[in-house]
Amino acid sequence: METLITLIAAAVTMRTLYPGNHPRLGQAVSHVLIALHDALENQKRDSVTFLIVGEDLVVDQQVFRKSSLSQRQFVQLLKRRGIERLTLAAGLTEEETHAALTALAVGQPIENSAHVIYGRVRVYLDEDPTNQAEKRERRELEPDQLNVVREAFKRFRTDNKLPLEEMEKLVWGFIDSLSRSTRSILPLAKLKEHDEYTFVHSVNVSLLVLGQAKSFGIDGPMLHAFGLAALVHDIGKLMVPLTVLNHPGKLEGEHWSIMQSHAEQGAWYLSEMENSPPMSVLVAYEHHLRYDGKPAYPVLRTPRQPSLVSRMTSIADAYDAMSTVRPYQQPLLRAAALEILKKRAESFYDPLLVANFAQLVEATATHT
Ligand SMILES: [Fe+2]
Ligand SMILES: [Fe+2]
Repeated sequence: METLITLIAAAVTMRTLYPGNHPRLGQAVSHVLIALHDALENQKRDSVTFLIVGEDLVVDQQVFRKSSLSQRQFVQLLKRRGIERLTLAAGLTEEETHAALTALAVGQPIENSAHVIYGRVRVYLDEDPTNQAEKRERRELEPDQLNVVREAFKRFRTDNKLPLEEMEKLVWGFIDSLSRSTRSILPLAKLKEHDEYTFVHSVNVSLLVLGQAKSFGIDGPMLHAFGLAALVHDIGKLMVPLTVLNHPGKLEGEHWSIMQSHAEQGAWYLSEMENSPPMSVLVAYEHHLRYDGKPAYPVLRTPRQPSLVSRMTSIADAYDAMSTVRPYQQPLLRAAALEILKKRAESFYDPLLVANFAQLVEATATHT
């Protein structure tokens, strides 16, 4: 199978270099046909299916563990054309192989034939930047969506009421934006006023948690619960006086304890609300706990590891806090913020989640 993959990748490269009727290409095609024949014979099958899952290649339901250069090339070339699966069947002809190589190499239309079947997620080649549908797909969050949270947070400050229902609806909107554009998980905030900070921060953290949860396959109501919990994780901060909240530099003494109390206060407030989702209470309470269980705040009677959703939230929380411009703080560059997260993996943050988060943020950033 490895040989077949290498030969297909080589033949596609060859097709980008030579015209369709070049003898060297003819040679490459017959090598592919022989390798396919041998591979099928070997496994006593009459077709082979390649499936691309993220960066991984799954061949006939088994993850292909060898990560050779040609395998990576193979994955990339299928991904570039938006092909998610490719089936090659016994009886593949020279003509069909030529057509497939041409389609993969030089962007000819991709068409199924008797022995070549493509499964496509999306074709990127015919992308027209002025295309309305495409534009819509790239859109980030709507200003209206943000206004709901902004208003909700303001109202909380003035009359201590949190319209949880509206926020719940909004999280479905976030999830929707997220499935349309991976870009949406990147922090939104550039420069924000003091008062707006907690609101913008909360939206960012929610998106970053949704992105993480989604990448682990969490979906539906569970995904929604993660997003909502992250959105209200700092709700206790709205009970902290603005003078403390916006105090430039390091907080000390009583101010620091007031600031720390936002975790307990938030959990307390949410737990008193009718229909408050238990996960939100948990995240408000746990999001400053350390992964290694060492003392942090709130002080626990028995040290323990925070729950998965809280561990995701604390990573998103730290990343957003570091990469956002605040009145008294220059933001760190994305790479520097990720570096700090990696350094604190094992102690403050779950190392597996940090690695996944870094991948996610880097992948998103290259799409912008
Ligand atoms: Fe917090
Ligand atoms: Fe936070």
